[in-house]
Amino acid sequence: MTRAASTGITVADEPMASGVVIEDWTGDAVFHEYSAAVDPLAVGAISPVPVRQFPAALHGSGPTRAIVLDLSDVLGIDVPATGPSLLAQFLRIEAGTSLATSAVATSELVYCLRGHGRLEVDGEGAVDWHRGDVITLPARCRAHYRAVDDAVLYHVDDSPLLSYLGVEPATPRFRPTLFDGAVARARLDAVAAEPEASERSRVAVLLGNARNDQTLTATHTLWAMLGVLPDGAVQRPHRHQSIALDLIVDCRPGCYSLVGDALGSDGAIVDAQRVDWEPGGAFVTPPGLWHSHHNESGAPAHLLPVQDAGLHTYLRTLDIRFTS
Ligand SMILES: [Fe+2]
Repeated sequence: MTRAASTGITVADEPMASGVVIEDWTGDAVFHEYSAAVDPLAVGAISPVPVRQFPAALHGSGPTRAIVLDLSDVLGIDVPATGPSLLAQFLRIEAGTSLATSAVATSELVYCLRGHGRLEVDGEGAVDWHRGDVITLPARCRAHYRAVDDAVLYHVDDSPLLSYLGVEPATPRFRPTLFDGAVARARLDAVAAEPEASERSRVAVLLGNARNDQTLTATHTLWAMLGVLPDGAVQRPHRHQSIALDLIVDCRPGCYSLVGDALGSDGAIVDAQRVDWEPGGAFVTPPGLWHSHHNESGAPAHLLPVQDAGLHTYLRTLDIRFTS
């Protein structure tokens, strides 16, 4: 047998085996009338991603544990999931205790919301983490997070995507990476101080990885941004086909997002749903919906959205659009 180099298609030069039993493989074949099946969302076969908030109170007290931000029931998914492709969790780790993770995922991203500690990854060594740090881990990492003082980590992975595909990852696509929180904040301050900052749609730093020079994202599937919403700012509506799992790092009361599926003639979102921000809270911005951010609090606010935009960028399906 001659094997093609990359497609898996071969020229079979031996005869088919004799005595093979001919099976009936037609039992699961279905023929949908086109208009009844061409838009499964419209006909209710698949559920839309909801706008959903997860309060900071979820991780405010209690023992060391993982708090799953689980929308699998709403989405009709048979594994824990916050969106079709992503799972978000708060990892609450009391001082002197630890949590172990072994996600079946191609990418994990962890943001340290509170506390500090040490992460050990089997075969990869250890790193110390502090408030504001981001760590990305590739496939097949067994990780142990130990807290020196009470800690809360925001953990996002793409395990629902792999479950949907019915696969386990074979090959890590990048190395474990630490994005130093102090360096990130300094870079954000520098971006905010640039003369063009007020003209840009966002004042933010995108996390990248040297291994991802096409998608320019934190991992090949995950995208993350550290952004500041200045006092008095109105960030005009934009939309994208990636899902956003937004974490509010800090804010005072008076910050909120508006989310909806259409724009009016004035460029504002029609019948918008308001999502009020709180420090340490998270919320889901569904794919394709317009969203704007507003700060009427009297102080700057910071946010860290995590998206599956690495995957969408690779697929050329991100379709990010801004209003003027
Ligand atoms: Fe967005």
